Amino acid sequence: MADKKLTLNDPESDKTLDLPIISGTQGDPTLDIGNLHKKLGYFTFDPGYGMTASCKSEITFIDGEAGILRYRGYPIEQLAEHSSFLEVAYTLVYGDLPTSDQFTRFERDITYHTMVHEKLNTFIQGFHYDAHPMAILSGVVGSMAAFYHDKLDVNDAEQRELAAKRLIAKMPTIAAAAFRHSMGWPSAFPRNSLPYADRFLHMMFSVPAEPYEVNPVAAKALDLLFILHADHEQNASTSTVRLVGSTGANPYACVAAGIAALWGPAHGGANEAVLSMLNQIGSVKNVAEFVKRAKDKDDPFRLMGFGHRVYKNYDPRATIIRKQCHEVLSELGQQDELLDLAMELERIALEDDYFVERKLYPNVDFYSGIIYKALGIPSSMFTPMFAIGRTVGWVSQWLEQSSTPTRIGRPRQVYTGATERDYAPIKNR
Ligand code: CMC
Repeated sequence: MADKKLTLNDPESDKTLDLPIISGTQGDPTLDIGNLHKKLGYFTFDPGYGMTASCKSEITFIDGEAGILRYRGYPIEQLAEHSSFLEVAYTLVYGDLPTSDQFTRFERDITYHTMVHEKLNTFIQGFHYDAHPMAILSGVVGSMAAFYHDKLDVNDAEQRELAAKRLIAKMPTIAAAAFRHSMGWPSAFPRNSLPYADRFLHMMFSVPAEPYEVNPVAAKALDLLFILHADHEQNASTSTVRLVGSTGANPYACVAAGIAALWGPAHGGANEAVLSMLNQIGSVKNVAEFVKRAKDKDDPFRLMGFGHRVYKNYDPRATIIRKQCHEVLSELGQQDELLDLAMELERIALEDDYFVERKLYPNVDFYSGIIYKALGIPSSMFTPMFAIGRTVGWVSQWLEQSSTPTRIGRPRQVYTGATERDYAPIKNR
């Protein structure tokens, strides 16, 4: 595609600049503004980075208008139906689906690294019993730098790969430990004879007093949820990981920052917020009132689990989770009136002009909490569940960034503060 000419709408300047077009393999063309300030003296203003591509990436493709999500080119629907979380993890990290040998090695490596240093467990014991598990998760993951930092050279590809595997392997162990701490239960060690999702459930719910069998329906459902959360290109937490990574910080510090970013209710914290919203609505008869509140600009209430920066269509992950919700509840022989409530909320919102005009659809977080709840996972653990899945995306993006020349991330600003003024001694103020 030919370069585009940018002409300034400025009577004092007739300057123009040819902006090269950067085209990916798919997606809208992007203007390269790298020379804008040098040639014309202007910066660009894009709060929330809604119009800004911060990097080139080969990992995940989203077409928000069409509701398409692909990891490494593979449609999310196909991965959800045929793959497993660890196979998806391999694919995101290395670029292609693994051969059987590659998968066996990867699974063995991940399994080998599931245990955490015993001192990390001691660290967890230092948290107050009612600490939010996301606070524990980001604190403990950040502290992993203290265990591996000295030995980690981020310029060495092999060491980066090892750190990535450690993070994928240990995140469920740490998340389960955070939950057990809140319950006052003794530590549970990873059972390496179990597959990834089963092992996590075992670490969550097994107690020394009695045997615990992992329910295969629960493990399958969880594995699918991990797949659906594994990556989502340059979302807030991944961009945070990349921003921290651009400074050359170690991967544990980068991912700890990503966990902190994920926690917010506009991002991964929405899954916990959806469940409390559904509980707050309480009954199908109250839905209309809450939809009205969500539309009122003077009311801070928003429909949690609705809307997305990129999707202006049904989030393809929500389509899969919605279907899975019905299957899981029926296979577990459970009924949950929150599902009826969520469906009614969705129905009313999707018929409402406010939501239609703004293209606000249910997102990945809208139905996931109902499944977590059916699996016995408490709502404070919903966002850590997201973090376990997303760790794969974070480390894949960090690996990609670390293997290509990267400038430090450093946005500019429009300064709106005081212009120069003189210091006045305190007695004169
Ligand atoms: N309820 C009511 N109104 C909404 C909602 C909502 N959930 N989401 C967006 N809007 C309105 C918003 O008020 C604005 O209206 P107007 O144009 O009249 O000012 C318009 O829709 C565009 O919204 P925006 O805030 O400019 O959109 P954004 O791209 O900056 O924010 C979002 C995206 C996901 C943060 C937002 O839709 C939201 O807060 N949703 C609820 C929280 C949520 O479910 N987050 C999970 C996102 S998906 C998973 C993840 O990323 O972790």
